Amino acid sequence: MEKMWAGRFTKALDKTADDFNSSIHTDCRMYRQDIQGSMAHAAMLAAKKIITQEDCDAILAGLEGILSDIDSGRLEIDMNSEDIHMFIEAELTKRIGDTGKRLHTARSRNDQVAVDIRMYLRSECDVIIDLIKSLIRAIVVQAEKNKNNIMPGYTHLQRAQPVLFSHYLMAYTYMFIRDIGRIKDAVKRMNLSPLGCCALAGTTYDTDRNMTAAALGFDGITANSIDGVSDRDFCVELLSAFSVTMMHLSRFSEELIIWSSWEFKFIELDDAFTTGSSIMPQKKNSDMAELVRGKTGRVYGDLITILTMLKGLPLAYNKDMQEDKDAVFDGVDTLKRCLEVFAPMIETMRTIPENMYKAAQNGFINATDLADYLVKKGMPFRQAYKIVGGIVACCIESGCVLEDMPLEKYRSFCDMFDSDLYDEISLETCVAKRVSQGGTGFASVEKQIREVKEFLND
Ligand code: ARG
Repeated sequence: MEKMWAGRFTKALDKTADDFNSSIHTDCRMYRQDIQGSMAHAAMLAAKKIITQEDCDAILAGLEGILSDIDSGRLEIDMNSEDIHMFIEAELTKRIGDTGKRLHTARSRNDQVAVDIRMYLRSECDVIIDLIKSLIRAIVVQAEKNKNNIMPGYTHLQRAQPVLFSHYLMAYTYMFIRDIGRIKDAVKRMNLSPLGCCALAGTTYDTDRNMTAAALGFDGITANSIDGVSDRDFCVELLSAFSVTMMHLSRFSEELIIWSSWEFKFIELDDAFTTGSSIMPQKKNSDMAELVRGKTGRVYGDLITILTMLKGLPLAYNKDMQEDKDAVFDGVDTLKRCLEVFAPMIETMRTIPENMYKAAQNGFINATDLADYLVKKGMPFRQAYKIVGGIVACCIESGCVLEDMPLEKYRSFCDMFDSDLYDEISLETCVAKRVSQGGTGFASVEKQIREVKEFLND
């Protein structure tokens, strides 16, 4: 097939070079955005009398036909084309003749591709935000189901203080809410139209960039034509937001994997989201969670790909920039797939509150509360801390827990101890008394659940 840019060349492009140069396998997924962009451009050219209304009508009808034919499968995208822009323009000319050749007036593939990617990513971000919301919804349902279940909270993966399992889960909802905020924020900056920047310098035609921007749902236009075609900051920003979301999913995955191990057994993932071993009949593995954890590195890699591609790239468009789509689309696809599997995995997970409670009973996680007991009776915290440290050591030596140590024994450490200490160190009291804002107390967790539900209903 003769290239559209063949004019100044005396030879056809080498076959291997042609394949190497082509981006159709990647950018074919932007056919809808490319056609929509072309339609807005044609309408603007007619409104500004750069092409006749008659030509515009033919172009619009032709493009509409191509769109519905690709949608319905009647028209197959030719994978020998250089890219999606060339394919659609060639197909248009095939269908409506020479009029099709007027479409590219006052436009370049450089602003065309820049507008296509922005529109494509904008709609994918809507899908991703909805998927994150579904995940938050699934977490909230689990939090409500497990509202009063006590588990050990950890620091250094050592049992630290008792918390509600619901409090633990709700922590993740706030991470995902921030992730949505980051994506929306990046989309806001991305949503300016570069269409009309042309190759890099703008155009000699009296175009109306605001008209195409408005028709395509942009909030405005990019102010500098060189920046408009060279900027891929939005890919960096989105991939960085996606990386943070993946990092959150990965941390959550790690918890699920640990919690489902026999050493913990706080939860059991549904059979539909786990796999077996080919040799060990007893195995039930958390493959989905492990894959999500593994794929996190891949999205980080996509981010680094774009950053490295852009580093040292002179203005304006360079072919290096064609590499942007493989990376940013991979980030989009990977995150979507991870979210699609994560929400139902959380929804169907079974919790085992008895095991959580048992684990909470055995790690002296009420030691802080025992120290606070003395502090409330007037002892300075450091002194109380030291006494309780001695008591814990004594318990470990005699193989008992704080709840089991007799009062006389307590009194041998400090005569401020009374029988009311046992109430103070019960796990339920420890949780109930953590009434500080955002703490694990029952009312605080209920407030969090309310707040996050409001966010979801917004
Ligand atoms: N396929 C190209 C890309 O994705 C389109 C832009 C080509 N522009 C050019 N001047 N060669 O970046």
